Amino acid sequence: MTAPIKPINLFEYETLAAKHLSQMALDYYASGAWDEITLRDNRAAFERYKLCPRMLVDVSRRDLSTTILGQSLQMPILIAPMAFQCLAHPEGEIATAKAAAKLGTVMVLSTLATKSLEEVALASKQTEQEASSIENRFWFQLYVHRDRGLTKALVERADEAGYRALCLTVDAPVLGRRERDRRNQFALPAGMELANLVTLTDLEIPYNPGESGLFTYFLEQLNPALTWKDLDWLQSISHLPLVVKGILRGDDAVRAVEHGARAVIVSNHGGRQLDGARASIDALSEVVASVGDKAEILVDGGIRRGTDILKALALGAKAVLLGRPVLWGLAVGGEAGVGHVLELLQDELDIAMALSGCAKLQDVDPSLVVRL
Ligand code: GLV
Repeated sequence: MTAPIKPINLFEYETLAAKHLSQMALDYYASGAWDEITLRDNRAAFERYKLCPRMLVDVSRRDLSTTILGQSLQMPILIAPMAFQCLAHPEGEIATAKAAAKLGTVMVLSTLATKSLEEVALASKQTEQEASSIENRFWFQLYVHRDRGLTKALVERADEAGYRALCLTVDAPVLGRRERDRRNQFALPAGMELANLVTLTDLEIPYNPGESGLFTYFLEQLNPALTWKDLDWLQSISHLPLVVKGILRGDDAVRAVEHGARAVIVSNHGGRQLDGARASIDALSEVVASVGDKAEILVDGGIRRGTDILKALALGAKAVLLGRPVLWGLAVGGEAGVGHVLELLQDELDIAMALSGCAKLQDVDPSLVVRL
């Protein structure tokens, strides 16, 4: 019998994952808004940036470790917040959290998780303890609901459970129109629930004929009146460092920092919100130039290769977040699959750095990249 062939890159994981997912789950994870122009451009944009490697530098000892918000990470790759991970694997967010903890990086848990924030924190802490670490490398992603009391309760629970940052998503006053989900009348399968919310309310993703249930959920439950002053409110109820996710302009990044953000994530929500929005890598330089060293800048969207990460770091990002490929790894192999996806990317970044004359992340500077 021949051994099953293990994926050797993130694209192979994507192909394989399709065989493990229901059509509804695959469409939900893979799709972007409307014509998916931004979704495609997040990838295409990376090809417009070219690397200018340095030669004859001693790169015999390489180090990919970094710090974000004072927390130490083994690699500059965090796991982006993604909803409903039990659609990919029965262990869902718990498997993802364990893989992140084992590899010494941050997982950002979605408000719309299918495992509760307490269960995920516990799994993560236990995994870290087994590896003799106590970093608690997990952040909580927040969607601000119309119900302020519910939002406050979520924030308090995250604090209590040991989350190290609040990651506020600001690009979703309504949900982007993802037509595949609309066609599928996206809903959660029986037995799957909004694990962070069921204990607080009876909220669920509604079945709505002719519509994506998630679109309807956003319309009914999330607060489209959110503004910058709500960042001040959030900080009045929590001491956790605030990370603002979903910024695509320099002036918005400055506003985020003025309102207390310690980190900004340049992101277009994986092309799932405003179709036609610029690729996140194209917005990065403007944000970096506007914010300077007043906050840490991270970026997500379209990262599939170590060279993509190198380009993002050269353009001024402190780290990147990885989205869909984590779900592909989760679908294929649960915790081990997620771990392998992270390792593949870590290895690619290591090689790309060696080939560019960079022994450590501090050696990666803007001269390494040009935009054609
Ligand atoms: C949820 O946050 C989504 O973008 O689907």
